[in-house]
Amino acid sequence: MLSLTNKHILLGITGGIAAYKCAELARLFIKAGAQVRVVMTRAATEFVTPLTMQALTSNRVHIDLLDAEAEAGMGHIELARWADLILIAPATADFLARMTHGRADDLLSTLILATPAPVAVAPAMNQGMWADAATQANLQVLGQRQVHIFGPDSGEQACGDVGAGRMIEPLALSAACAELFATGFLAGKHVVLTGGPTREAIDPVRFLSNHSSGKMAYALAAEAVAAGARVTLISGPVSLPTPKDVTRIDVVSARQMLDATLDIVGEADIFIGVAAVADYRPEDSAIEKIKKHADTMQLTLVKNPDIISTVANLADKPFVVGFAAETEKLIEHGKEKLQKKNLDLLFANNATDTFNSDAVAVTVISADGEQAIKPGSKQTVARLLLQEIAQRLPAAKK
Ligand code: C5P
Repeated sequence: MLSLTNKHILLGITGGIAAYKCAELARLFIKAGAQVRVVMTRAATEFVTPLTMQALTSNRVHIDLLDAEAEAGMGHIELARWADLILIAPATADFLARMTHGRADDLLSTLILATPAPVAVAPAMNQGMWADAATQANLQVLGQRQVHIFGPDSGEQACGDVGAGRMIEPLALSAACAELFATGFLAGKHVVLTGGPTREAIDPVRFLSNHSSGKMAYALAAEAVAAGARVTLISGPVSLPTPKDVTRIDVVSARQMLDATLDIVGEADIFIGVAAVADYRPEDSAIEKIKKHADTMQLTLVKNPDIISTVANLADKPFVVGFAAETEKLIEHGKEKLQKKNLDLLFANNATDTFNSDAVAVTVISADGEQAIKPGSKQTVARLLLQEIAQRLPAAKK
């Protein structure tokens, strides 16, 4: 079976007899490495108990939109952003109809509208209901909106009928979900990224640095692997595990980061500068620990090399993507940076909610204009950003 390592799957259960299969489905997701949160409609709780789903997923089950206690744990918008995939299984005829109309009258339907993540459905209903023109028309609309439709299977039904309408089996369903994450739109590409902060030594025990956690770069690296790329991540000091199949090169200072970048960037198709590189470093780094004698102390700082500009001005440059964390005039400053640094694409976000946070809102800025990406988890947004890059690759200079 394909991997779902670290994927956040929001399993939405609606009120059909196939709901009992969701216990097995949740177990398979977890076995494949996913984190699972369950949202049930009221009708679903008639078929399977929330306690069963809670015990299997180790997370509280969400049921009501207006549940103050659940909102205090993880609010519905937060839940929509947490998900890398929302799977509705089983999806009843009624729920599919409500999705088609964009209803938001319970928690699950609201989450579907709010999420930036892909949505998949596993229809399950009586064969007559499945064959009905209304259901088929709804499915067509959902398909046009990029909702993934898994199943249904044909065979004997709980009501005794025989025909199409059985929910596809949990094993096939979990495999179909895993395949969604292994699309390969960057197959054959080498992606080089910088990530995390840099540290600029003052003496052997002190340094200048910033709050960058490296989470965005690490999420992009993991998603680039999932999209089929070969990935090299040049990382400043962070406390994150290396994502699977990523080649990580550890550096400390901006100058080390530049050297490591220049060593490898000639082989890159795409360079993404995510690192929060220290703009300045102490002119001299003391060899011995500086003693505290005087009441004041002055440090002279000198400018660090601009890594991304250096790459973007190479004769044989890859497709170069920068990040800009701004506290004001996001678009204006972003556009200036795109031009000044000679970038192909720039992802701008608000610095105050960027560092160390798990959710991000990003605006994509290119020479053609700007476009906001639906806010979501760093992993979901990372995937959307890589798709933005992939779409523009034919125009790249390499
Ligand atoms: O100029 P500013 O630091 O806001 O630009 C941010 C972008 O430039 C990021 O992509 C960052 O990784 C990159 N950068 C760099 N080298 C520097 C400073 C920033 O590569 N010295």
